[in-house]
Amino acid sequence: MRYFESDSFTYPENKMFCEEVAVEKLASEFGTPLYIYSRKFFTERFKELSEAFSSVNHKIYYASKANYNINVIKLFSDLGAGIDVNSAGELLRAKEAGISGNELMLSGVGKTVEEIKLALKENVMMLKAESEDEVIRINEIAASMGITAPVAFRVNPDVDAGTHPYISTGLAENKFGIPASEALDTYKRCNALSNVKMCGIDMHIGSQITSADPFEEAVARLAELYKKIRKEGVELEHFDIGGGIGIRYNDEKVFTPSQLADRILPIVKDLDCQLVLEPGRFLTANGGILLTETLYTKENRGKKFIVADGAMTDLLRPSIYKAYHHIQPVVKNNRADITCDVVGPVCESGDFLAKGREIEEPRSGDLLAVMSAGAYGMVMASNYNGRRRAPEVMVDGNEYFLLRSRETYEHLLYDEKLIEKLHKKESNE
Ligand code: LLP
Repeated sequence: MRYFESDSFTYPENKMFCEEVAVEKLASEFGTPLYIYSRKFFTERFKELSEAFSSVNHKIYYASKANYNINVIKLFSDLGAGIDVNSAGELLRAKEAGISGNELMLSGVGKTVEEIKLALKENVMMLKAESEDEVIRINEIAASMGITAPVAFRVNPDVDAGTHPYISTGLAENKFGIPASEALDTYKRCNALSNVKMCGIDMHIGSQITSADPFEEAVARLAELYKKIRKEGVELEHFDIGGGIGIRYNDEKVFTPSQLADRILPIVKDLDCQLVLEPGRFLTANGGILLTETLYTKENRGKKFIVADGAMTDLLRPSIYKAYHHIQPVVKNNRADITCDVVGPVCESGDFLAKGREIEEPRSGDLLAVMSAGAYGMVMASNYNGRRRAPEVMVDGNEYFLLRSRETYEHLLYDEKLIEKLHKKESNE
């Protein structure tokens, strides 16, 4: 089988390390399933991206939905990022990480009154609206607070990002943004509202995009629109090209940040704007693993299964997108490969981490590393089947830190109570 290695995850003497810490050591200290992140990876990825766009006025807003542990948010903020948040919950996480309001952008296709109020109270740098209706609401709320709200429209450029349909967002048929064909008039109408300042244009055409072509096409369309809107006297300042940069999970051929910059900068460099990027996955995915232990191995009518303690409740991506996550033993034992499904303990046939996968034969008790789990891993975890969400650890050189411990059974019950009156009634009937 292939073992994936990188600067952050290596196999000195056939045992996996995250930076300078043995993964086995983390398993014995914190148990499994366990999320492990590499600080070095996150840092280097951010610098690489920022460097590629350094010739223009730009700012990276880390899309915290990819991995919103407050330490991850703080790390990117310290590197110079702003933070893109998609809900009040994410905004409050960013605040908890110490990020000031003017370093935040609020996205989201259905912001509530409460969320808009919170964002305005926190003085966010920009709200990205997805309908005219929403801008009218933002205007009313801003008026009631006696302020002017900075707003950008997410414009749908009707470009096929060529990615999984569930994470493709830039086609006319998708629910996101306003149509490019109507944007000029919509901008003019909204800019006339008393308590809104239209200050930017935004797109996000999808996620895990592995070709720079759709980016270039969409940016070119938006650049034309940007010029027309400015000509109408709307003082746009920010040009947000969204997130979506694809990464290598398996064999994907991906583009580098500098290749993306080569395609985009010629289009935007004369726009007299701040270029905004809002990546999530690119900065985090390959900097994290989900560590799981083999509980049992079995064979049903010739089909082999590895039953691991990690499940769809820890990493949902394989179940809902059939996403590929490479899985490799933490210790190379030089055993023969087997072809198997790697499944979790949840009572669903859809509970798998890999199907028909070739892997060096794991035995009960062996640790497995599920790779590329730093993005859309922990944030999509659930408590289904009464499972506690996994802890998160960050490694920094030869040090490591528990960012969040494993949930307890008390967490699972939160404030659920037996309502006596309800059950008295039941027993009297
Ligand atoms: N900005 C907006 C408005 C977004 O909706 C997203 C992701 C991003 C930025 C960051 O995109 P990224 O750079 O990470 O591709 N759960 C799916 C991914 C859903 C992405 C949703 N939006 C998955 O596990 O693949």
